[in-house]
Amino acid sequence: EESTLAEAPPMGWNSWNTFACDVSAALIKETADAIVESGMKAAGYEYVNIDDCWMTEERDEDGNLQPDPEKFPNGIDAVADYVHDRGLKLGIYESAGTTTCGGYPGSLGHEERDAQAFADWGVDYLKYDNCGDHYGLSAVERYTRMHEALEATDREIVLSICEWGNNDPWLWGHEVGGSLWRTTGDIKPLWTVDEDTWYHGVIDIVDMNEPLAAHAGPDHWNDPDMLEVGVDIDGYPGLTATEDRTHFGLWAMMAAPLIAGNDVRNMSEQTREILTNEAVIAIDQDPAGKQGRRIKNTDGADGTEVWMKPLANGDRAVALLNRGERTRPILTSAREVGFDVESAYIARDLWAGTVTATAGMIGASVPAHGHKLYRVERGQSDDAVPAALLSINTDE
Ligand code: GLA
Repeated sequence: EESTLAEAPPMGWNSWNTFACDVSAALIKETADAIVESGMKAAGYEYVNIDDCWMTEERDEDGNLQPDPEKFPNGIDAVADYVHDRGLKLGIYESAGTTTCGGYPGSLGHEERDAQAFADWGVDYLKYDNCGDHYGLSAVERYTRMHEALEATDREIVLSICEWGNNDPWLWGHEVGGSLWRTTGDIKPLWTVDEDTWYHGVIDIVDMNEPLAAHAGPDHWNDPDMLEVGVDIDGYPGLTATEDRTHFGLWAMMAAPLIAGNDVRNMSEQTREILTNEAVIAIDQDPAGKQGRRIKNTDGADGTEVWMKPLANGDRAVALLNRGERTRPILTSAREVGFDVESAYIARDLWAGTVTATAGMIGASVPAHGHKLYRVERGQSDDAVPAALLSINTDE
């Protein structure tokens, strides 16, 4: 039976990137309120997800998972009620092994009991990790078990597969009921991979996730990990505003799940504007469900790139990406991004909000680690300014 739980890439928030093990009912409730008050809910963010470390170190004597009584004094169901009352959904975390990555009890061998507990509590989304002993069982077997256990409950629960791309989940994740699967190891607020820790950053994750485009579509999404937009944690420099926009824009081009990872209770106006840019979110959530691709690059890892994502109404999203360390011009054309020969296009710059008329040239000067993101449509517009202005538009 085909699931339709995630027709568009899931949108929401998860505790891990900012709070790691420091989760609590208060954090989840305050975050739900902030998602509503900040306009994130109106922009499409729906899931409020508790990551690792929500439970006690042992199951109870009957074998049930126990929410940590200090972190969740009224249990998970009370938090689920609170979140549901605000029109949002609740996510939780477990692992397809003997332990979670934080060392708490895993679900392997307890799938039915745990899935039923999640359903009874009102959980809507399960991020299912891959830590602990696997008793020699394959990933396919272990994720199938949880999928079947979730199906046996009377609740619809999104299954988010998190085995870091180790077993090519893009080849089997959908068949075992996954609506999304991680394609990489863990992201941190870095531009590129940290070769001491092997934590990943925005641009090396992009390089791993981009070639998997053919495997993505409605209810079966590649997951290049959660957003680091506005994330400020000890030991990391964090992303600049330009890098935050590039991160968000490329996740939208890749039809990635948009799971914010920042402290939404205390975010800057700049972070809020990035996370709630409705025109960019519309690229991510486009009903055609196509993952965009890099269609041109120059100068390799430090070069410039042109990306294209075909949209349901015939428009094309076009990103001009500058991976390098100095501002560069990047140029493409309507024909290069796949339009038939025509003479009039409108290019909407989705960050600047400007609308430009062009006979086919699409270009801009793009700052280091920056991008330009356009929605290009056929036709003419009275609001549009002539294309010549694009080449001198160096804002950001
Ligand atoms: C793994 C996952 C992360 C996070 C942690 C929690 O590393 O990939 O996203 O869930 O476990 O321990």
